[in-house]
Amino acid sequence: MLPIPYKRPRRLRGSEAIRSMVRENHLDAVDLISPIFVINGVDRAEAITSMPGVFRFTVDRAVAEAGAVAALGIPAVLLFGIPNQKDARGSAACDPGEAVQRAVAAIKHHYPDLLVITDVCLCEYSDHGHCGLVKDGLILNDETLPRLAEIALSHVRAGADLVAPSDMMDGRVAAMRSALDAEGFTDRAIISYAVKYASAFYGPFRHAAGSAPQFGCRRTYQMDPANVREALREATLDLEEGADMIMVKPALSYLDVIRAVRETVDVPVVTYNVSGEYAMVKAAAQNGWIDEERVVLEQLLSMKRAGADLIITYHAKDAAGWLQRSKDKKILEGSLDV
Ligand code: PBG
Repeated sequence: MLPIPYKRPRRLRGSEAIRSMVRENHLDAVDLISPIFVINGVDRAEAITSMPGVFRFTVDRAVAEAGAVAALGIPAVLLFGIPNQKDARGSAACDPGEAVQRAVAAIKHHYPDLLVITDVCLCEYSDHGHCGLVKDGLILNDETLPRLAEIALSHVRAGADLVAPSDMMDGRVAAMRSALDAEGFTDRAIISYAVKYASAFYGPFRHAAGSAPQFGCRRTYQMDPANVREALREATLDLEEGADMIMVKPALSYLDVIRAVRETVDVPVVTYNVSGEYAMVKAAAQNGWIDEERVVLEQLLSMKRAGADLIITYHAKDAAGWLQRSKDKKILEGSLDV
């Protein structure tokens, strides 16, 4: 006869009350950051077809979107700008009259407590679509640094609380830190996209921002998906240069990297649940193949479990709404559903 098991893990799974008591990881609206794409013009919202539910907003509409984000208890937005004009140097990127700079100021004016983070990069603003300056088909590193610092400064002058460089040039964090400090912006933080892979999951974003490289690829500056030791080197370097938080991007195919970075650095770790990850879930949900709410919450929780403190995600508003609803329901029902 088989012995009766006297160690029974199922004892701690019998009801939602006990499951919630022994739960190891939690997801909350305060963990989330909601991206917003901004364009020039007025009162327009352009649907991004490859990212159902995501729009390009004019500044006035971006302010309304930021208000909706804040009302859900999400503490921060991440702004991306799409200019009218692109050129080789990405000149529009540091224009105080451009969409991002105006959106930062308008959002901070209407919602001073909502944190505004800006993406700092050249690819949305350059006609070649690369994240740095280009000469003879090569992506220049050191020549790009002052441009990036200038862009970060223009965002911070407009009121950005944090800047997030996503270009992957070497030395950009130090260049930005000293430029910000030189103008007295010692209080503004840098979230470094320190660990950014050359990923196929950025496809829908590039469609949204019109930022696909016009020649070559990003593999000379973004990381090889095969590497994890290199991620730790990147994270350590950016901390030495003055980064306040470290980002790992994308999220779902890199949960092991999030864990490794979490165990190496002592600053907050952010992960970016990118456009391709979002698009796949949306497509399957629209076909009725998966339960969108459960899949999204499971994926976001897996990022927390891997060690991320914060998650940038296009699901942020939906997730915050679902989390609030289930909290309300539990309170109403006294957590008694089994
Ligand atoms: C700009 C940038 C990209 C993303 C964030 N900042 C695109 C890229 O590097 O090609 C991707 C975000 C996403 O896919 O959701 N450098």
